[in-house]
Amino acid sequence: MTVKKRILSGMRPTGPLHLGNYHGALDNWIAMQEEYECFFFIADWHALTSDYENPGNISHFVQEMMIDWLSAGLSPEKCNLFVQSSVMEHAELFLLLSMITPVPWLERNPTYKDQIIQLDNKDLSTFGFLGYPVLQAADIIMYKANGVPVGIDQVPHIEITREIARRFNYLYGNVFPEPDAILTQSSKILGLDRRKMSKSYNNAIYLSDSQEDIRTKVSTMITDPNRARRKDPGNPEICNVFEFHRLYSPPSIVDEINSQCRLAAVGCVDCKKIMSENLVNALAPIREKRKYFEERPEMVQEIIASGNQRAKAVARETMKEVRGAVRI
Ligand code: TRP
Repeated sequence: MTVKKRILSGMRPTGPLHLGNYHGALDNWIAMQEEYECFFFIADWHALTSDYENPGNISHFVQEMMIDWLSAGLSPEKCNLFVQSSVMEHAELFLLLSMITPVPWLERNPTYKDQIIQLDNKDLSTFGFLGYPVLQAADIIMYKANGVPVGIDQVPHIEITREIARRFNYLYGNVFPEPDAILTQSSKILGLDRRKMSKSYNNAIYLSDSQEDIRTKVSTMITDPNRARRKDPGNPEICNVFEFHRLYSPPSIVDEINSQCRLAAVGCVDCKKIMSENLVNALAPIREKRKYFEERPEMVQEIIASGNQRAKAVARETMKEVRGAVRI
């Protein structure tokens, strides 16, 4: 028998999951749970690095995120699902790693510079925000993960993680493997307005949306921007609704839409109606499971508690080794 490789990844609980999150990350995790030993966690301390002024919603989103995960198909029998702040060892390892991490490594981190500019409505000149990748490194190496499934935007953080692990091993002896990023194909679907799907743009379709919400949102989607009138032929290649068809409609419909749109034989209104029914149906099992878990909050708590226990057992062992290596 071969030992399964261990992977780990996390999400920040800053809001409900939308289809961009689903196709950009979660569906990949769900596929990986068959093949790998998985640790998936909710990074609530990381959410606090940017939302420290309004922490009120974070614990609500933790519960919601776990419901989204379970409803979409992550199985607590197959993987370890846990919450970062419940495994206090992450904070201890973060502290020790912060002693050996040179500040310039953090200052030149591209996501750090990016976020400071993008989130200019928040004061992110904090120690915690600068140290974000150090906490992330602690999350990852705590479990001696071999691989970290992430989107391309997170690659600099995995690179810093490798550097920190290497430096720790050099200073204190070989404790940590250097993890590899496992690149996730980013989602091809855009938001309703054709910008990147994002909660902050108010252009997202959520896993938790009702059938009616989905229908209403789809009816507002921007299609091929060059197709101004019903009689103009359209170009499916640049139409976001067509991307959705590719994901949610059967191949025969996709082919039909593809040709009919180019001939102006189908209009955007009807095309969207067909797509939205297929989308509503595709998400029906997720909505049903969500309802099931929403009615059983204590069961969700139970799943989180047992995942936390399993994560803690690993973290405790790692920290024994770490304290031995650092001799403290
Ligand atoms: N920084 C990640 C993100 O914003 C979330 C995260 C925190 C993470 N710790 C992690 C991802 C560890 C992978 C591994 O998406």
